[in-house]
Amino acid sequence: MRLGSHTLPHPFFVAPMAGVTDRPFRMLCRRLGAGHAVSEMVTSRRELWDSLKTSRRADHAGEPGPVAVQIAGVDPAEMADAARYNIDRGAQIIDINMGCPAKKVCSKWAGSALMKDEPLAVAIIEAVVAACAPRGVPVTLKMRTGWSASAGRGRNALVLARAAEAAGVAMVTVHGRTREMGYGGQAEHDTVAAIKAALSIPVVANGDVHSAERAVELLRTTGCDAVMIGRAAMGRPWIFREALHLLQHGTPAPAPATRDVQRWLLEHLRDHHALYGEFTGVRSARKHIGWAVRLLPGGEAFRRSMNALAGCEEQLAAVSAFFDALAERHERLPEPAGADAANDDGAVGLRPAA
Ligand SMILES: Cc1cc2nc3c(=O)[nH]c(=O)nc-3n(C[C@H](O)[C@H](O)[C@H](O)COP(=O)(O)O)c2cc1C
Repeated sequence: MRLGSHTLPHPFFVAPMAGVTDRPFRMLCRRLGAGHAVSEMVTSRRELWDSLKTSRRADHAGEPGPVAVQIAGVDPAEMADAARYNIDRGAQIIDINMGCPAKKVCSKWAGSALMKDEPLAVAIIEAVVAACAPRGVPVTLKMRTGWSASAGRGRNALVLARAAEAAGVAMVTVHGRTREMGYGGQAEHDTVAAIKAALSIPVVANGDVHSAERAVELLRTTGCDAVMIGRAAMGRPWIFREALHLLQHGTPAPAPATRDVQRWLLEHLRDHHALYGEFTGVRSARKHIGWAVRLLPGGEAFRRSMNALAGCEEQLAAVSAFFDALAERHERLPEPAGADAANDDGAVGLRPAA
């Protein structure tokens, strides 16, 4: 698929997830087959740009292109400024967040709450496109099916998607839930398929894709150009490779070799420590380790034991030893016990935070 001058090589994308899809995780997902990776959202509020959190999010050193940065905000001029600011720091694609339901964002009418105010949403899209077009930077939009499940104007993604296309947006991603639903209920993809049928620009389906099989099925049933995967990639980023294998060969990929998983996780942790430093890095890496081991034999006890370790080297050594022991018993990663249970975000111990 092409986005402006960029080629996205594979149709399975990793979803932006605040607190998860930082640069090290995005790079890992891309190495394992993700065709596109959008950053965690960056606020449009200028006074926060120098904060450590935002400047880390805007740091793309070493990230393979195209670098896509998601921005969130409520003011068209501020959003245009945020787009320019991020382009100056390496963004090659700007993604507008109209999908996030969290209070922190929505109380200020950003994220999915913007879908309720169509004129403002369109004004933001137009302002961002106007800021990006002269720099040759495509703008993409991520949204939900609407702000309310009620029939008619509440489920207004199609109206907004059409307006976005007319305003020059290059790709739309739709999470098959309304804002009202938060992360409850089940994603529906009929609305996404209808949007795909109505638009000429690429459309991406998102929501509740928990397996390679589901990813390929959704690609086919919606006719979408790509499928975006969020929570199911936490701790299992090879889902992109598996989906690609299934799409290309028609047969499921074998489980990854335990030694490969060990290597991927250790590489990821080293990158993570390098970005955050020892104190923060060791602590924030624990959640990634937890997701990676939670369904493996002995994983839960190992996850708890991580809390006692405060040094990068100790953490790396413990993870390495856990997988050494696992590799002695299992050449390939054992089939996770209770995989279904792990598929709701509660089970992985992380609620959408932003
Ligand atoms: C922890 C977490 C953080 C998220 N942060 C963002 C975000 O910053 N921007 C955004 O557009 N969506 C965000 N989302 C929503 C995801 O991108 C995605 O739309 C949603 O999780 C549904 O996909 P899934 O069922 O594959 O997880 C977040 C979701 C989670 C679980």
